[in-house]
Amino acid sequence: MQILQDKKIVLGITGGIAAYKIPELVRRLKDHGADVRVVMTEGAKAFITPLTLQAVSGNHVADSLLDSQAELAMGHIELAKWADLIIIAPATADIIARITAGMANDLLSTLCLATSAPIAIAPAMNQQMWHAKATQENINTLLQRGVHVWGPGAGEQACGDIGLGRLLEVSELVTLSCDFFAEKFLQGQHWVITAGPTREAIDPVRYISNHSSGKMGYAIANAALNAGAQVTLISGPVNITAPVGCDLIQVISAEQMHKQALTCAPQATTFVACAAVADYRVADIASEKIKKDSENMQLSLVKNHDIVADVAKLVKKPFMVGFAAETQNVEHYARGKLKRKNLDLIAANDVAKSGQGFNSDNNALTLYSAIDKIELPLANKHIIAKQLVNLINQHYLAKDTK
Ligand code: C5P
Repeated sequence: MQILQDKKIVLGITGGIAAYKIPELVRRLKDHGADVRVVMTEGAKAFITPLTLQAVSGNHVADSLLDSQAELAMGHIELAKWADLIIIAPATADIIARITAGMANDLLSTLCLATSAPIAIAPAMNQQMWHAKATQENINTLLQRGVHVWGPGAGEQACGDIGLGRLLEVSELVTLSCDFFAEKFLQGQHWVITAGPTREAIDPVRYISNHSSGKMGYAIANAALNAGAQVTLISGPVNITAPVGCDLIQVISAEQMHKQALTCAPQATTFVACAAVADYRVADIASEKIKKDSENMQLSLVKNHDIVADVAKLVKKPFMVGFAAETQNVEHYARGKLKRKNLDLIAANDVAKSGQGFNSDNNALTLYSAIDKIELPLANKHIIAKQLVNLINQHYLAKDTK
């Protein structure tokens, strides 16, 4: 059976240049078995015609709340009830603001209010508009309400800017749609995931840290949640929002992360150590700001506990997944860590390569277990996370229960 067989999707298109990609999205969703009904805003029609969307969806395209003919065929309340999922792609800053405010001033915003179906938005806008405080606050509100936010991706924008705000690729949107309806194969499992950097204080104002953004760990938390797991996310300081539904434990230092990990891990079925934990901390943290009196300064550092290695020493050890960010001899070092830290799986990435790893939206991983070597080629971290979760389940967890 196709993954989206008999799934009813309302696809809302709003007025962004990325609207030109949506006919392809409709076709791919239909290829997977979905029944797609398109709703367009006035702005969307400036970029692409309803006739195109009608042709590819095979259904009438709705674009007006006040169209008596359309209301007769399938009224807006009926359409809101019909949907198993509403996807808005591209979602402009405007529709995001309107649905956050609960407005019902066109067909699409009204549907969002009138539906009990889940809503997923795929934002696409200029990077400055995406980073604007208003947009970010709206996104956080929507996330708290359980709206799924797919993307945006980063890269060159139609306006020439570079940054966050691109519509995710059609293939990524299709994957996320399929995920949405995917089987909850991790139901009953508890995943504990560490993510982000740690900060090791030097004095009250300074610290030692690294470039980890937390994106990979947060994406894994999201993928595990989508697959039905209970998720505890132990996170160092990051600038991203935790997925709705996880238990978020915020920490600053490696010592705090160590303590929380050892408290949570005994209840876990899987432990994923994705955090970029500082290997050393300052031996004596100055209680006052250190003055720059001398030309040279020396800090004495002491080794932090190895969190993942200590969790792997637990009597009731969860399935252990580590990460290895390397710049050379990746396989050699990764296999060394797998063995030394007593892990079941290690996900290695070459952080010397540009466009992947630390702080990037993309990643490529090679997974090593005692016997396997599996490549996950360069893709958005959400896609990589989903592949990783699927793979851990199929190759290791599901095997254990057979
Ligand atoms: O630091 P290293 O390269 O050995 O890290 C490999 C793995 O160990 C990573 O999964 C990382 O999150 C974990 N780690 C840890 N605690 C540390 C250092 C690393 O859990 N203090």
